[in-house]
Amino acid sequence: MRINKYIAACGVASRRKADELVAQGRVAVNGSVVTELGTEVSDGDKVAVDGKIIALQSAELYFMLNKPQGCVTTASDDRDRQTVLDIFSVWYKNTNKTSNVPRVFPVGRLDYNTQGLLILTTDGDLANLLMHPKNHIEKTYIAKVRPHLTSEDIARLEGGVVIDNEKTLPATVKVLKTVGNKQNVQITICQGRNRQVRKMFEAVGKVVEKLERTRVGALELGNLPRGQIRPLTEKEITYLKNANSK
Ligand code: URA
Repeated sequence: MRINKYIAACGVASRRKADELVAQGRVAVNGSVVTELGTEVSDGDKVAVDGKIIALQSAELYFMLNKPQGCVTTASDDRDRQTVLDIFSVWYKNTNKTSNVPRVFPVGRLDYNTQGLLILTTDGDLANLLMHPKNHIEKTYIAKVRPHLTSEDIARLEGGVVIDNEKTLPATVKVLKTVGNKQNVQITICQGRNRQVRKMFEAVGKVVEKLERTRVGALELGNLPRGQIRPLTEKEITYLKNANSK
């Protein structure tokens, strides 16, 4: 497909404006700037405008779920527990009045007892890329822990603690609220290791009573009610597609 047609199909600009973008050297294909108006792009080419990868407005679907506690993130469960895909399926059928439910993949995993922001998408390639360990997308959690964190605990959590024989990357930690011997603590990490937040608090002698993910990169859980799903906005989808190229 000719590059101006491709840029237009991505919803970035009209074909005429796309020609201007190319002529101005603002368009790159697979990392190299192209200025030839007749440039052809094919499947698999990565086209960027002003450094941001653009994508065809495809049939891929992207959602945010506020995962409740008491369900698993895997596609099926040997103990027959409710899965996030069960929740998606019910929601999709009701919302779209159809029994044809698209196959979605969760981006990352939240434990059975962790609640909060989980991305679901039909775009399996993007899901895999976002979950790749090289991707240091920040994730913010609110943990209810006991007993209180000391300033040394906070310094250790922020500097990295050893879990499963490997030190965690730097994190930020902020105590939000203290009630009795418990605290609500906001922690931002940039890895997605197995049960990472629980293990980090365990490493400094704390018990996590409740855990909620409130943010993944630029995506915020906001006031999406527990157990509810909403489609991501175009802005959020663009963010995710570009989060991978950083
Ligand atoms: N860290 C945890 O311990 N659990 C989660 O579900 C996510 C991050």
